[in-house]
Amino acid sequence: MQLKESIESVREQFRADSDPFPTDTQSVESLRVKYMGRKGLVAGLFAGMKNIEDKDRPLAGQLLNELKQELSKAFEANTQGDEESSAEDNVDYSLPGLTFPIGHVHPLQQTMDEIKSIFMDVGFSVAYGPEVDDDFHNFTALNFPPEHPARDMQDTFFIDPETVLRTHTSNVQIHLMEDQDPPLRHIVPGRVYRNEAISFKSYCLFHQVEGIYVDKHVSFADQKGILEYFVKRMFGSNTKMRFRPSFFPFTEPSAEVDIWSEKRDQWLEILGCGMVDPEVFKSVNVDPNIWHGFAFGMGVERICMLKYGIDDIRHFYQGDMRFLEQF
Ligand code: PHE
Repeated sequence: MQLKESIESVREQFRADSDPFPTDTQSVESLRVKYMGRKGLVAGLFAGMKNIEDKDRPLAGQLLNELKQELSKAFEANTQGDEESSAEDNVDYSLPGLTFPIGHVHPLQQTMDEIKSIFMDVGFSVAYGPEVDDDFHNFTALNFPPEHPARDMQDTFFIDPETVLRTHTSNVQIHLMEDQDPPLRHIVPGRVYRNEAISFKSYCLFHQVEGIYVDKHVSFADQKGILEYFVKRMFGSNTKMRFRPSFFPFTEPSAEVDIWSEKRDQWLEILGCGMVDPEVFKSVNVDPNIWHGFAFGMGVERICMLKYGIDDIRHFYQGDMRFLEQF
């Protein structure tokens, strides 16, 4: 069989060429190309397979594979050490390192953290409460009459007729006063839910920070002082603000705080507040003749939007890196 002789002759030729085995990378490479390359001698022998007779083919195949293995082993045995050292030589220490994207704190969490630290600096501690709560804590104890529109299906997500997704963090005022005797001074960050049409300014879920301060001699003036301090630290010491009379079932008197926007040339509401209504104290067995308090609640999205000029509340919930990376 002619192929058999050709195989033998390639083997002889390789043995001659590789004794001694070349030591520099370039010669090794040309040796490899000559024998093992795509157009090398071994490939040429494989191409010759198609011309041999069927009966000789299995033997020819076997011989060819043996040759190929012999050559591969020779290359492997003689270049192993080199490859290691050449891999090392090829490291380019001037290349910039890989950068791995690390996550960062969501703008809402940043705003929440800022609010928390402002109030913690003046003696408030942070408390949390349930997002799924009963009608009593979310409405009844907060002096919402049974037919109050806020209980309506349009605003409230009901789990069952007695259980709701809280519509505000004020439910935690009640839990706190049930669980501990006054005096108390807490802020309560958390998620709240409202069944509203989704638009640039409202979303079915958002965040609030509630505040509650109960002690023996707490007055509306204290509330004004604390909230003024908060606004100046949050929005800058030159911020113009006002308390505008308002109404909440659970505070009396009640107010809303607006800050003045030069850019929009208008007042913008940032929070609701008021003195804890005596009816609320009664629902948690706190004597309104001894204890007084104020409470406030603010929307975290709204504060973050005003502070950074964000025009659409939905940005907070879309996970769009182009938005998030700006914070
Ligand atoms: N719970 C009110 C709201 O969601 C805000 C508020 C809290 C008002 C506490 C007064 C006192 O709008």
